[in-house]
Amino acid sequence: MAKRDILIIPDTRLRLKSEPVTAFDAELRALIDDMFETMYDAPGIGLAAIQIGVPRRLITMDLAKKDDPPQPEVFINPEITWASDEKSTYEEGCLSIPEYYEEVIRPKAVKVKYLDRDGKAQEVEADGLLATCLQHEIDHINGVLFIDHISKLKRDRVMKKFKKAQKRGETTRDAYTEDTPEHRIG
Ligand code: NI
Repeated sequence: MAKRDILIIPDTRLRLKSEPVTAFDAELRALIDDMFETMYDAPGIGLAAIQIGVPRRLITMDLAKKDDPPQPEVFINPEITWASDEKSTYEEGCLSIPEYYEEVIRPKAVKVKYLDRDGKAQEVEADGLLATCLQHEIDHINGVLFIDHISKLKRDRVMKKFKKAQKRGETTRDAYTEDTPEHRIG
């Protein structure tokens, strides 16, 4: 297993539409292991493969509370098949946009079909944090970021800040100082 660097905006790879996973082999298992190691190290509660530069439709997640046993979950080629009309608001953050948090309005509940790590078809009906996290991560594999859901004014401001940081050579982040990992959706 190896911890990988997490891409930070304005890295253009974060705008790629990821390709489906087709092979359920040792390479995929190694990628999943690296994603969990990277996600737990950050720490974050979700991670899409493209955030470590791999354009595959693959998500890792663990929504277990701090002192509870880990609950690692893998969602491969996930697709939203239903979304509730009812919306909810959650203050989201993203490992690819460190230290920035903003309220995002999304459907409160979703149904998602996906493949598990063995390639078996699964479906989950999610609400609460799981619904928010799944939508945030599925956005990632479509090249969409949570700042696309906020006002253009706020988005332009955060993009400008990160472009300046990139010019200073700050292209990766070794540590996240905010102490509430459940805000770092992924
Ligand atoms: Ni994210």
